[in-house]
Amino acid sequence: MAIHEFETPDDLAAGAAEFLRDRLRTSTDRTSLGLAGGSTPTQTYRRLRDLDVDWQSVDLWLTDERFVPVDHPDSNARMAWDELASPVAAHLHAPDVALGDPATVALRYAEDLERLLRSSHGRIEPDVVLLGMGPDGHTASLFPGTDALQATDPYAAVFVPKLDAWRLTATLPLLRAARTVVFLVAGHGKAAMLSSVLQTDEPHPVSLVASGHRDVHWFVDTAAASELGGAA
Ligand code: 6PG
Repeated sequence: MAIHEFETPDDLAAGAAEFLRDRLRTSTDRTSLGLAGGSTPTQTYRRLRDLDVDWQSVDLWLTDERFVPVDHPDSNARMAWDELASPVAAHLHAPDVALGDPATVALRYAEDLERLLRSSHGRIEPDVVLLGMGPDGHTASLFPGTDALQATDPYAAVFVPKLDAWRLTATLPLLRAARTVVFLVAGHGKAAMLSSVLQTDEPHPVSLVASGHRDVHWFVDTAAASELGGAA
């Protein structure tokens, strides 16, 4: 595990974008990049789109999605398209929320991802996955206390009571199969949780993704790292 600390969110975005560019360049043929939703990644996507990446060989997919139409302001697909995929003309594979109920949409997207992310070894193996973290320790849409944490399929639909909303999310089996996981965590509001994740054995959802992983990188700003002591 590596912690990359930056003074400001903008420095974090620049550092994460360069790290992702380097990881995307190392692949010989097609490579996949799982995109985080929410607000933190937008600055990273804006930086990344200006870097030298062969986007025609990159498959973008969503590590989670809100169950809203793609033109809804809360849509992660809309954000990923506007901030990255459209400017670089990359392939964005997103759940088709028009297919029906949340469970059906999650099942169809899981089938798509099983084809998209299957490695030469015949296993589902995402290359690089980008994730955020909520102050409650959720990542993607794996919220504490929800049954998505027990899901065995690659993708699941989950009703999140605290949001009173359906979400679609990559599950622990899929996220744990990634070759590289990159977390983007910024702001004082995440400091207590980041300290708990990196300095205790609490089974937060984000910790369940990161634990026992081969290649995990935490990109954090000084505000989020402010309760880490010397760990950063
Ligand atoms: C989402 C995200 C979610 C996000 C965290 C952090 O759909 O909202 O996938 O897991 O990464 O909630 O969100 P911020 O980056 O907005 O703080």
